[in-house]
Amino acid sequence: MSPTQGRLEGKVVLITGAAKGQGRSHAVRCAEEGADIIGIDICGSLTHVSHPPGTREDLEQTRELVTMLARRKVIHEADVADRSALRVAVDDGVEQLGRLDVVVANAGNYPMGSLPPDAFTQVVDTNLVGVINTVAVSYPHLDDGASVVAIGSTASFVPGAVDNPRLGPGGLGYSFSKQTLAQYVRQLSLAMAPRMIRVNAVHPTACDTDMLHHPDLYQVFRPDLEHPTLDDVLPALTTSQAMPIPWVEPLDVSNAVLFLASDESRYVTGVQLRVDGGSVPKLVPGAL
Ligand SMILES: NC(=O)c1ccc[n+]([C@@H]2O[C@H](COP(=O)([O-])OP(=O)(O)OC[C@H]3O[C@@H](n4cnc5c(N)ncnc54)[C@H](O)[C@@H]3O)[C@@H](O)[C@H]2O)c1
Repeated sequence: MSPTQGRLEGKVVLITGAAKGQGRSHAVRCAEEGADIIGIDICGSLTHVSHPPGTREDLEQTRELVTMLARRKVIHEADVADRSALRVAVDDGVEQLGRLDVVVANAGNYPMGSLPPDAFTQVVDTNLVGVINTVAVSYPHLDDGASVVAIGSTASFVPGAVDNPRLGPGGLGYSFSKQTLAQYVRQLSLAMAPRMIRVNAVHPTACDTDMLHHPDLYQVFRPDLEHPTLDDVLPALTTSQAMPIPWVEPLDVSNAVLFLASDESRYVTGVQLRVDGGSVPKLVPGAL
């Protein structure tokens, strides 16, 4: 259930990767709380993928869900790895909606399996450079007191989860980009603090989106099976958390994003907020 209290009333929120999955959920949850939305997605083909990216129709559907909540939404197709295209999209969104208060750098992909080495560079371009680009083109529009939220992953901190040669160069790039993103958020929070701009990361564990539900990822959990099904992987997915759950829902992540986006978190910065059912405390020795 999502209680609505106008926690983002009057704010404009930029969300990358907004066509589907968690990005769509963030757009709807923020709109429920009164925000207008700038939604950006690549809406097209990436060279190396394990699951399809969002489509133009997906992004349009996100816009419809936001406008049904009587909020405004500007959508743009852009690759977060392309800083020039991203700047054009963000500048236009801000011009149409008048301001920018919150940046949610969410776009990501996770190409796994036996792929050429440049799968590493592609995933880093989206998951790390894309976040840096998103912040860079947004910064000129941000007033003091703004909020930046970057979406990482707890998997990156779990030994053997994504730093596993079986996952191929895309999996290694995923791990590298999410771990480096955590460092980037920490340093950026210090740089932005004098302007009261907060910078935080949200790290989900496995989340119930297309990124999780595809054969390549199922096989990571059941390498002994050629074509594992959801039933085959459920026990392994569930033991990855301390709580007896196989994954979190996009809404669980959106509620964490909402807190960091709202003024309720006005003195919260440099935080690595895990939405993980206790995955990291369970699997990473000594993690606090
Ligand atoms: N699903 C999980 O299990 C999980 C777990 C931890 C972290 N995450 C992270 O959560 C974020 C959202 O993922 P999701 O689960 O919603 O996956 P998803 O595949 O459902 O959605 C990702 C969206 O990002 C878009 N995108 C991909 N590359 C892009 C690019 N270069 N430029 C612009 N848009 C691009 C896609 O088109 C898609 O709409 C990602 O950063 C992901 O790494 C996901």
